[in-house]
Amino acid sequence: MSLVLNETFLEGFVSQEEIASYAQRLTAAHRQLYAPDGQPKGWLALPTETPEALLCQIEAAAEKIQKTSDLLLVIGIGGSYLGARAALDFLPKKRGCQVLFIGNDISASHLEEVLAECSGREFSLNVISKSGSTTEPAIAFRILYRALQERYGGQAPQRVYCTTDPADGILRRMCEEEGFIRFEIPKDVGGRYSVLTPVGLLPIAAAGHNIRQLLAGAISAAKDCRGNTPANPAYRYAVLKDILYQKGKQVELFAAYEPFAATLLQWLIQLYGESCGKDGKGLFPTAALFSTDLHSLGQYIQEGRRLLCETVLCLQEDSSPLTVPALGSNHDGLLYLEGKRLADINRTAMLATAEAHHAGGTPTILLMAGRREERTLGELFYFFEVSCAISGYLLGINPFDQPGVEQYKTNMFRLLGKPGYTNTPEN
Ligand code: PA5
Repeated sequence: MSLVLNETFLEGFVSQEEIASYAQRLTAAHRQLYAPDGQPKGWLALPTETPEALLCQIEAAAEKIQKTSDLLLVIGIGGSYLGARAALDFLPKKRGCQVLFIGNDISASHLEEVLAECSGREFSLNVISKSGSTTEPAIAFRILYRALQERYGGQAPQRVYCTTDPADGILRRMCEEEGFIRFEIPKDVGGRYSVLTPVGLLPIAAAGHNIRQLLAGAISAAKDCRGNTPANPAYRYAVLKDILYQKGKQVELFAAYEPFAATLLQWLIQLYGESCGKDGKGLFPTAALFSTDLHSLGQYIQEGRRLLCETVLCLQEDSSPLTVPALGSNHDGLLYLEGKRLADINRTAMLATAEAHHAGGTPTILLMAGRREERTLGELFYFFEVSCAISGYLLGINPFDQPGVEQYKTNMFRLLGKPGYTNTPEN
């Protein structure tokens, strides 16, 4: 695996003795993760146990989408879309189909924009919902399926790729009744841990990316993140953050220096927010894109309340040859940068910022990663999933449920008059 933790900017915040003192708790967390027989199961086993037949099926569906559609509308929310979206933003564009994500809000203008995009173009739908009943994607699907029917009539169902529970839920039943093309989210894989199932793999493949390389990256991370000690980098990362949390840090800022990684940071927020924020515990996850946000959040990070710790995603040097050109003058004061690659200047900004934040009281973990390619992304997805689950167990919570998400839904259903949720008797 190419991922390496650089702990230089933790000095004075975390000691080797403190890390070593987690040995027993890590063993216990490891047991919980691999229970009951110590073997990887569910999402943990996806990199190594995804059947070849399923990969072929996904690739064939992606090819069909590319042949028949200019546009694929991916309908889903939370764990049912963020991984694929992170991948599509992270990876350099390929010649696949254009993918738009919808059903992740209830915004009429967003839906109207997407409907307008479909006009005059061939399109297909990939509706993704494990439960099959989440309101946001359900509304978007109803509207977009109607548009699909209006355009393609009786052929519409063959343009619907439905990724849902293997046995239960409304979407599962609709697949039977309408004849949609069906992909399954395994029962034992939860939404935010599902990017390596058809939830993520189908849209990623439809956009032209190599899902086998993505899985190869995850396999490599799985190999290196298997032990139950701090030598396992995913466990070590969880321990470092737990130490910072126990010492009073309350917010974890995920940062990157490349705009293409911005959605990956959103995926991290969702992964950690829903996994670790419960029972009054957990670091509040948030994200910043540097150096852009150094001109907004930078002041607070440097000198505001000392509640932050930071993880910076450092990708292997950009191969872009772009340099600061010679101007023949120094009117802009940039002579000292002439001939320097932007990638090198960006890397220097990262080191300078980490040094400043550390000195200002914000402990900073650098996660050194590989190049901007499928393999690196596969490593990152798997590394963070494992580490997040261990973070949850170290906190003494269940990292795989999300009971708090229900409260707003219950209120919304009551206010909208959904049967079974109103205070007055149903009519
Ligand atoms: O991580 C999770 O489990 C959630 O974020 C879900 O993915 C999200 O709520 C969407 O659920 P569903 O796929 O059932 O529509």
